[in-house]
Amino acid sequence: MPFVTYEAKGDFAYLIIDRPAALNALNAQVLSDLDAALDAVDTTAVRCLIVRGAGEKSFVAGADIAQMKDLDPAGAEAFGKQGNDVFLKLERFPIPTIAAVGGYALGGGCELAMSCDFRICSDTAVFGQPETGLGITPGFGGTQRLARLVGPGMAKQLIYTARNIKADEALRVGLVNAVYPAAELYAAAEKLASQIAANAPIAVRAAKKAINEGLDLPMDEAVVCEEKAFGSCFQTADQQEGMGAFLEKRKHEPFKNC
Ligand code: COA
Repeated sequence: MPFVTYEAKGDFAYLIIDRPAALNALNAQVLSDLDAALDAVDTTAVRCLIVRGAGEKSFVAGADIAQMKDLDPAGAEAFGKQGNDVFLKLERFPIPTIAAVGGYALGGGCELAMSCDFRICSDTAVFGQPETGLGITPGFGGTQRLARLVGPGMAKQLIYTARNIKADEALRVGLVNAVYPAAELYAAAEKLASQIAANAPIAVRAAKKAINEGLDLPMDEAVVCEEKAFGSCFQTADQQEGMGAFLEKRKHEPFKNC
């Protein structure tokens, strides 16, 4: 029974980390199942992925501490690489990804959420990188993505103190885009996914690629990423329909992803 389940919902889908006995903690098998689940997504049909944890209590409570405890340095580095490879695949996934965080997103859970395009959470969510309190550093990209998302000063404070933060503080520091009552979280995620899915998929994917690729480049190189993205949308059926409908003062037909 895989630890990651896929649930299609029309033009978007859920990827669910499903290991409730350990609050969805990430061991090597969960990471491998996540990798396989991403490979299996039909990105021509699905227009947005929502990543969530099974159950109400936890998104993902971290990398599996029991599995990590007796690793030697080379084994730990390899485990870090396994996580990083999967999370890079998720970060670069061709279609948009939303992390819907209900409950704990600690360590590898926070890192998983940060590998998605953006995060929304329940008012019960708890975020943190508690690793220094366990005698290690973050291992699946936390030192890098947290610093980019909330700035180096706040990332350093959170990582050095190993202090967990609640949803309202996560919102304040810019780690999440919005907080919802727990009972409304997944409906809110689905609404966002539907809004994204209704827009021209080629344009949405090109925008994601341009943003991701340009982020760490000097602006004169970064804007070239956008020029390529912009150009790639033209003469598509969806661009012709979208612009044509505007000029003809009518609502556009549903976009066809071509
Ligand atoms: N790795 C392995 N197992 C984990 C885990 C993790 N990161 N997080 C939770 N679990 C397991 C617990 O060992 C426990 O298993 P058991 O029932 O077999 O004893 C089960 O999940 C439930 O966790 P428990 O600690 O009993 O729940 P709680 O409600 O008291 O506390 C947390 C919840 C999230 C605060 C607590 O589990 C925790 O601090 N987890 C570790 C978070 C962390 O440090 N993550 C970073 C790892 S690098």
